[in-house]
Amino acid sequence: MKRSIRDLASVEGKRILLRADFNLPMDKVGRITDTTRLVSELPTIRYLVERGAKVIICSHLGRPKGFDFRLSLWPIALLLMKYFPGKVQFAHKVVGEKVAEQVASMSNGSILLLENVRFYKEETENDPEFAKQLASLADIYVNDAFGVAHRKHASTFGVARLLPNAIGFLMENEINSITEAIKNPRKPFVAIFGGAKVQDKIKAILNIAKSADCILIGGAMAYSFLVAQGLTVGQSLINAESVSSASQILEELSAAGKRIVLPVDHLAYNLGDKKMKPFATETLSGDMVGADIGPKTIKLFEQEIKKARQIIWNGPLGKYEDKNFQEGTFAIAKQVAKAKAYSIVGGGDSISAVKQAKCEKLINHISTGGGATLKLLGGEPLPGIDVIQEKYI
Ligand code: 3PG
Repeated sequence: MKRSIRDLASVEGKRILLRADFNLPMDKVGRITDTTRLVSELPTIRYLVERGAKVIICSHLGRPKGFDFRLSLWPIALLLMKYFPGKVQFAHKVVGEKVAEQVASMSNGSILLLENVRFYKEETENDPEFAKQLASLADIYVNDAFGVAHRKHASTFGVARLLPNAIGFLMENEINSITEAIKNPRKPFVAIFGGAKVQDKIKAILNIAKSADCILIGGAMAYSFLVAQGLTVGQSLINAESVSSASQILEELSAAGKRIVLPVDHLAYNLGDKKMKPFATETLSGDMVGADIGPKTIKLFEQEIKKARQIIWNGPLGKYEDKNFQEGTFAIAKQVAKAKAYSIVGGGDSISAVKQAKCEKLINHISTGGGATLKLLGGEPLPGIDVIQEKYI
């Protein structure tokens, strides 16, 4: 078990370098469209502030190549100021003399948000000198950036090796909820996977299949599974890598006697006249493009979900960003929310779908990670967690 901020003796007057994941989704003109990750970080910040720590927050935003004002964390500082009035300062750099001066002038219980750490190429290179400079700002390092825990970067990994460290509440909650659900699942356990690329989810699907009773597959990835079974899917989205990953999953699941449920029908449109209609799986061919699970599949999936006592869902079940193809994803979101099951939803698109369907409050655990959630579900190492010291050492 990793050491948590609750295990730190006293943080009063201590300089805490808190790695958060404020990589918030933005629209084309740079407006923040969802603040889930920031709101989920508040309990950790509040805990440290209330105990008189000097909280230096470090985060990335996007994948900049050098300085890019569109990816500045300044708008996030403004958001933080609403939650902590009079307590938040912003540093226009991440390391250097000016930042050190700002840190030196911090009072107990105040917050300093550093600029986007990815403006420095040394961050993603996990440069030891850069990690040392970051470490020099603080007495203790706290990693609460679950969304980026799969990256071995200077602010998620390198710096942790140079300071006493711990995880924050968000990280702790993610690790506990997800690992417990995989190790000790409530039964029946139903896993739902959607999205496009099977190859990105292969490890997660195979690992979950060890404890799941049934796996439901929807979204664009379902077409790769159908092709792997020798069916035609018209012009629906597939690629060779996805089909080969789908074949591997089908083989392994069948050898292990696991149940996998694929769509029996689809809401599809014709490439020529764009007319949409439901199609049975065996009749999908020619110019048809499947873009959502069909009504019979919704019913079939709902029956499985109703029986479940635990559900893990990752990835939308259709092209839900298009109004015409939202039905499947939204119907399943509502059913998952209604089910008498412990539910975990992960992945940006599934979370956004659950929110649009207005049922996020009924989900037991909404994971803030994308790639990190898949790695944890897949039983893969997460360097940002592994590097943190154990509780009883
Ligand atoms: C995410 O959005 O999944 C995390 O913030 C990690 O971002 P990255 O994929 O750019 O490292």
